[in-house]
Amino acid sequence: MNEITWRSPSNIAIVKYWGKHGEQLPANPSISLTLSEAYTETSIAYQEGSGHIEFFFEGVKNDAFAARVTSFVSRLEQEMPSLAGLDFRIESSNSFPHSAGIASSASAMSALALCLGSVAAQVAGSMHEATDVSRVSHFARLGSGSAARSVAGPLMLWGETPALKGTSDEFAVVVDDVDSVFETYRDSILIVSDEEKQVKSSAGHALMNGHPYAQKRFELAGQRIAAILDILREGDVHAFGKLAEQEAMDLHAMMMTSTPPFLLMRPGTVSIIEALNAYRSDTGHPVYMTLDAGPNVHMLYPNEIAAQVLEWIESDLKKYCTGGKILHDKVGHGPKFITS
Ligand code: DP6
Repeated sequence: MNEITWRSPSNIAIVKYWGKHGEQLPANPSISLTLSEAYTETSIAYQEGSGHIEFFFEGVKNDAFAARVTSFVSRLEQEMPSLAGLDFRIESSNSFPHSAGIASSASAMSALALCLGSVAAQVAGSMHEATDVSRVSHFARLGSGSAARSVAGPLMLWGETPALKGTSDEFAVVVDDVDSVFETYRDSILIVSDEEKQVKSSAGHALMNGHPYAQKRFELAGQRIAAILDILREGDVHAFGKLAEQEAMDLHAMMMTSTPPFLLMRPGTVSIIEALNAYRSDTGHPVYMTLDAGPNVHMLYPNEIAAQVLEWIESDLKKYCTGGKILHDKVGHGPKFITS
């Protein structure tokens, strides 16, 4: 059997993707920081066969995920016919604990898309599939929307916007006109709860269909994409953080006003946000937060103030984290080809 291994990171959205249509197309453009410490490593061993797929997550056979991968592979076969008829044995593991409450389809599906692109390239004798960022991002998107933004770094934008040339709903692009301060960003993830997500993201996106505030939300996200591109160019860390917090609150507001409504923050989430507001007005430090569709808080800050921020997190915020769990991550440069 031939084997391919890729490591692919998670990412944290600053302008959020929330709502989709058609075949995994976003309702609005989104932008994220590519992370480095939270990643999935996936190996695919393959041989000529009958299209049989076996999937192991951290050494344990997972038939439910194998079924998801089977439909993903059959979708990709339309674009990479050389995948047809191969048998796959896939092994995947995460760098972060399974119970961290940050189960990441972005790292998992981008690692898989990269592996499948490389397999197709090996079989067809060309490296094109595995090396072209927009093509791999497009493949990853078909597995999970946010995965489209994990195939490169340090920042990726997914979704068509008049604010940046070359953007598309089909794939994410690297944003390269960015002040270097954003390449030094840290993301300390405060784990308020490590329970499984209350709302799976596919169900969450569906809540935006017929949502009374959907149109306004999509419009605002589009405007914020234009605004953040200027902010990134100018290196304005406070404007960046304020926009990130508005986006996090909007995402949660959408869920609170869905049918049925969901309250995803926990008391610890609120305590951390209040402590952050007080810390910022005391120190003036550019530390801001964002949230995913869950209760855990991502603290975003430039590396130059890391020593002070880490001390404050340790002394004042750790008590709100389940089992004192905090994952320290930072901006990274995207996937790594491990071996073939
Ligand atoms: C709140 O990419 O997980 O994290 O396309 O259904 O797999 P699917 O959804 P997913 O949604 C991510 C939603 C989010 C915001 C974001 O990452 O932009």
